Amino acid sequence: MKKILLLGSGELGKEFAISAQRLGCDIIACDSYPNAPAMQVADCFKVFDMLDPNKLKDAVKEFNPDFIVPEIEAIRTQELLKLEEQGFNIVPSARAVNLTMNRDEIRNRATALGIRTAKYEYASNIKELIAATQKIGFPCIVKPVMSSSGKGQTKLYGENNVENAWDEAARNMRGDRAKVIVEEFIVFNSEITLLTVKQKKGETLFCSPIGHTQSEGDYIESWQPFDINEDLLNQAQNISKVITDDLGGYGIFGVEFFVLENEVIFSELSPRPHDTGMVTMFTQNLNEFDLHLRALLELPIPNILLLRKGYSTVIKAGDDMPKNSKYEIKGLEKALLINNVDVRIFGKSKAWPGRRLGVILSSEKENGEAAKKFISIVKSK
Ligand SMILES: Nc1ncnc2c1ncn2[C@@H]1O[C@H](COP(=O)(O)OP(=O)(O)OP(=O)(O)O)[C@@H](O)[C@H]1O
Ligand SMILES: [Mg+2]
Repeated sequence: MKKILLLGSGELGKEFAISAQRLGCDIIACDSYPNAPAMQVADCFKVFDMLDPNKLKDAVKEFNPDFIVPEIEAIRTQELLKLEEQGFNIVPSARAVNLTMNRDEIRNRATALGIRTAKYEYASNIKELIAATQKIGFPCIVKPVMSSSGKGQTKLYGENNVENAWDEAARNMRGDRAKVIVEEFIVFNSEITLLTVKQKKGETLFCSPIGHTQSEGDYIESWQPFDINEDLLNQAQNISKVITDDLGGYGIFGVEFFVLENEVIFSELSPRPHDTGMVTMFTQNLNEFDLHLRALLELPIPNILLLRKGYSTVIKAGDDMPKNSKYEIKGLEKALLINNVDVRIFGKSKAWPGRRLGVILSSEKENGEAAKKFISIVKSK
C-alpha cells in the first residue's frame, strides 16, 4: 500500500484523497487547522505550519511517505528541494512546486523558454512600482509575487491609485519577499485551463480545455468542453508541453491561458489539480484527481474521455458573513430536485466573507445557475 503525505487539505486535497482511497492508498492529510476537508476522508492527519521548515521535515520523517503531494502553495518549498535530494518523491517535482509558487520565477522560466506572456515588470517598492506601471502602461494589473485566488491584486486604470495597489499587495502577500509583478492587462475573449498530464511511461496527455470565468481574480464558474479552434488548441498544447517538460516530474498541471482571436497567451500554471478542473468530476471518465494519482503512481491512463459536457459554479459565503462563523448550507432539497445537478459540500467548519464552501456540478449553465438560486449560506450557532 502506497503512503501519501498530502500537504494541504482543502477541497482539492479532499477529492484527491478520495481518489487515492479508492485505489487503496494510505493518506496522511496535513494542514494548519484541524478537521480540514481532506482530513475528513484521510487515514490520519497532522496539524502543523507547513511554512515552518523544521515542522515540515519532522512530519516527513515521522511518516516516511512514498509520495509527498503538495495541494497548496503555502509550503516551505525550499525544504521540499532538500527532501527530494534525500530521495523523497515530491509530486510532480520539487522544482515544479518551487518555481510555480513564485509568479516571478515561473514567469522568468516562460520567458526563457520563448513563451509569450502579457508584458510584465517587477517592483520591490512604491518608487519602482510607479516606474513599472509607466513602462507597462494602463490598464495594468499589480499582483504580489506570492499569492493565490486573486488576493492582493489591483487593476490600475491610471496613475492615481498606484500607492493603494502597493498597499493592497503588501497586505496580502505571502512569504517574506515584498515584490510585485505588474502585468499588461490582456483584453481576452475568454480564458481556459488546459489540464496536462505528465506521465513517466507514456506521452503527455491533455484533457479537453476548460473555459472559466473569474471575478476579482477568484474562480466563479467553469465548463467543459470549451469551444476552441484546432490552431488555438495546438498552440495551447504545445506551450503546455514545453513548460511542463521544463518543470519535470509526473502528475497533472493546470495550465492557464488567455484566449484571443488568433493566439493564446500563457498566464500561469498549477503543478496539481486546478480549481476550475472540478468540473471534470462531472464530465470525464477519470477526473483530474484520478489522473494526478495515476500519473504519480505510474499507473496506466489508456484514455481520457469526455463522457458528457458539464458546468460547475462555486458556492461562497456572502460578504455579510461574519468572520469565522459557523454556518449552514440551506436549500439542497430544492437544488437537487433539478435534473442533472450534483453538489459537493467541502465540509469546512467555519465561514468568512467570500470563503469557498462548495461547488455545484451540472450538465449546463442554466440548470447549475437555477440550482444555485436555491442555495443559501446562513450563520449558525
Ligand atoms: N494580465 C492580465 N490581463 C487580464 N486579466 C488578468 C491578467 N492577470 C490576471 N487576470 C485575471 O485575474 C485572474 C487571476 O489571475 P492569476 O491567475 O494570475 O492569479 P491567481 O491569484 O493565481 O488566481 P488563481 O489562484 O485563482 O488562479 C485571471 O484568471 C484573470 O481573470
Ligand atoms: Mg490563476
